[in-house]
Amino acid sequence: MKKNLNQKLIDLIEYYNLINANLLLSNIPLKRNDVKKTAIFSGTKSQKLAKLKKSIQLIKNCELKKNATNLVFGAGNINANIMIIGEGPGAQEDAEGIPFVGRAGKLLDKMLMAIKLERSKVYISNVVNYRPPLNRRPLENEIERYLPYLKSHIEIINPKILLLLGSTALNALIGNEVVISKARGKWMQKEIGAIKPWIIASFHPAFLMRQPEQKKLAWIDLKMIRDKSISLGL
Ligand code: URA
Repeated sequence: MKKNLNQKLIDLIEYYNLINANLLLSNIPLKRNDVKKTAIFSGTKSQKLAKLKKSIQLIKNCELKKNATNLVFGAGNINANIMIIGEGPGAQEDAEGIPFVGRAGKLLDKMLMAIKLERSKVYISNVVNYRPPLNRRPLENEIERYLPYLKSHIEIINPKILLLLGSTALNALIGNEVVISKARGKWMQKEIGAIKPWIIASFHPAFLMRQPEQKKLAWIDLKMIRDKSISLGL
């Protein structure tokens, strides 16, 4: 079927954003091995988020998208100092188009309340924005595909603290050589696009529902976030 001109233009803009064409067309010397670069969207924070969401909606030939009901983009305060990244939407999230509204989300709310953080004070998203069928872990190629969007999402929100929930978020953003049991509860700093937030990993609430005895470690991680917020004057 022939695409109309508008759709062609939208596709072209999405492609330019993803390949960072603004860098290719600028006079700034290009560092070819610079993996920190993310797609750059212009406008206010809300406009940038809307453009990012649009570019995710335009993703083609994606099994996750084909099987999902809704795009689950992000939720919470776009000016939050703390951003939380989960793995991917579950059934409830897929039905509502909002991250962490199912059982794991209820536990996450309780965990956040334990350090006096309401949802309205944080911003939440996931490694992949469409529900993996049967709640399976997103595949490596799916994680790779959504990673540029996730990095742009983080860069636009510009959190001071980034909480990675579970091994999928940890491995996607920090690398496959780290394991959650060793990496959790340790502060890291890493450039994501133009920003360098404090990053901490902790257990995913769905894992904590299966292994409640690990909640004591999650509680240590939460207190580290509370203390870091205080020391950063947030
Ligand atoms: N688990 C996740 O990782 N993300 C959600 O949004 C819900 C459950």
